[in-house]
Amino acid sequence: MNHNLEGKIAVITGGGGGIGSAVAESLGARGAKVALCGGNNLAKLEATAAKVTASGGEAYLLPGNLMEDSFTTNCIEQIASHFGGIDYLINNAGMALSCPFEETTMEQFDQILRLNTRVPYQLCQKVLPYLRKSQSAEIINISSVVGHLGYPLQSAYAASKHAIIGFSKSLANEVYNEGIRVHTICPGGVFTDMVKIARPDLSSEGMIMPQDIANIVLFFLENHGNAVVDEICVHRAGKEPFAY
Ligand SMILES: NC(=O)c1ccc[n+]([C@@H]2O[C@H](COP(=O)([O-])OP(=O)(O)OC[C@H]3O[C@@H](n4cnc5c(N)ncnc54)[C@H](OP(=O)(O)O)[C@@H]3O)[C@@H](O)[C@H]2O)c1
Repeated sequence: MNHNLEGKIAVITGGGGGIGSAVAESLGARGAKVALCGGNNLAKLEATAAKVTASGGEAYLLPGNLMEDSFTTNCIEQIASHFGGIDYLINNAGMALSCPFEETTMEQFDQILRLNTRVPYQLCQKVLPYLRKSQSAEIINISSVVGHLGYPLQSAYAASKHAIIGFSKSLANEVYNEGIRVHTICPGGVFTDMVKIARPDLSSEGMIMPQDIANIVLFFLENHGNAVVDEICVHRAGKEPFAY
């Protein structure tokens, strides 16, 4: 069964970033209503909102720091009351860190675990009451290939991305009988600001593009038949296959 995304209500965190912006625009092009939830760079959020609107969707801007409890506690309710419900949550906002294990401070560890794991966990909790009222409820949590692997210098990031997969599996098993699907996407290097900072040695050639990840999100949301894909791992063409 193919789902039409027209009029569906999607929450996406980090919608001003590379992957988030591509996902938001793709949902807009399908006629979805997109809440851009969280982000510190207002200009980037406004640019994404303009793309969503230009592509035929509706955008609702909710800038704010997802690290602050006052924001994460209330944002889902605010979005639901603005649009009148929520069908999809896409936990995309995240941060990376490239640092030797022994030099990673506990403050850095706490920060990365907070944004990459605790925030998605909390938003999943907050969104479930609304998803229960939807006929097409889905949560998509963006992990990473580092959610399965352990590259050097990425211990804190790897911990956070393993953890989001762990809780997603558990949550998926708690709610699938209610018709709520929970997916994870595990990308390799995607050409965004994050990878430009974390891996300045990599050139754009051979990189995954943000639109490639947006296409996977569309696949999850549109294919709602009896064949369910839980997770998609995607690596750069130049990397070794099946190395998860
Ligand atoms: N790029 C890759 O190679 C790659 C690979 C695997 C997985 N991922 C994952 O994909 C997701 C998106 O990353 P990206 O590559 O698109 O990176 P990006 O362009 O740097 O986007 C990250 C987004 O997260 C937002 N964000 C960061 N801190 C925040 C905070 N405290 N509160 C609210 N929003 C915050 C940023 O907003 P502001 O800019 O406004 O702060 C930005 O919109 C992340 O979860 C990342 O771990 C990326």
